[in-house]
Amino acid sequence: MNNALEANSLSINRSGKPVLNDISFTVPAGEIYALLGGNGAGKSTTLLTFLGFLEAASGSVSVQGEQVNKNVKKAREAIAYLPEAATLYGHMSAYENLRYFLDLANAKASDSELNEALDSVALQTAARSQHMVTYSKGMRQKTAIALAILRDSPILLLDEPTSGLDPLAIDEFNRLARKLADQGRTILMVTHDVYGACQVADRIGLLRRGKLVGAFDRTEGEIDTETVHRAFAERAST
Ligand SMILES: Nc1ncnc2c1ncn2[C@@H]1O[C@H](COP(=O)(O)OP(=O)(O)O)[C@@H](O)[C@H]1O
Ligand SMILES: [Mg+2]
Repeated sequence: MNNALEANSLSINRSGKPVLNDISFTVPAGEIYALLGGNGAGKSTTLLTFLGFLEAASGSVSVQGEQVNKNVKKAREAIAYLPEAATLYGHMSAYENLRYFLDLANAKASDSELNEALDSVALQTAARSQHMVTYSKGMRQKTAIALAILRDSPILLLDEPTSGLDPLAIDEFNRLARKLADQGRTILMVTHDVYGACQVADRIGLLRRGKLVGAFDRTEGEIDTETVHRAFAERAST
């Protein structure tokens, strides 16, 4: 199977300090990979590298088999990115935000496609035409996820997609992510939520202070939350 995303012995420095240290992992097309780690582990840095915003000190990343530094534009075209603090406009409604940002990305969506995407994240119908300044954090996050989906890109990079979501909304997100993967989309998401990661991911990489210190794989059966939690906690305390 083709790998949609690959990190090969990737090391990254930021402000002269090592932030990622020799990490390697692959995400086959149509799979969900969760990079799990605590604050400052290097999760967001990893996503930025796939988008070509940071230069590798050594090693490389590839998108759809091509090294990102050789063709940044092509890599970005294949990717929809949900940033850690997605900023949508408070004085515009969800509909207006989606239309505006899709326009900027040269993507098109019909009214029914907008509603379909907002249905898939379970944003209340009545809220959709209200200014987003009235939204809860969870509602803003749902709208941002809908925007990422509407980009219609084969690869989704999601930075803490479930932050601000309640447990029911997280279940909803997990179902949505699985549906997208079943449709052939590839998802690389980063999170510090062990339970959520185990629920949704085909593979989990445990990142600690810039090093991949654990790997868990669904092909060996369900990923066991307790096992991952223990590895996460153990690593965190050392
Ligand atoms: N813009 C930046 N300039 C310099 N160092 C940064 C910058 N952003 C993050 N870092 C550092 O890189 C490390 C990893 O950060 P980050 O990738 O944001 O971690 P995570 O997303 O896992 O919380 C941290 O030590 C952080 O201080
Ligand atoms: Mg982060």
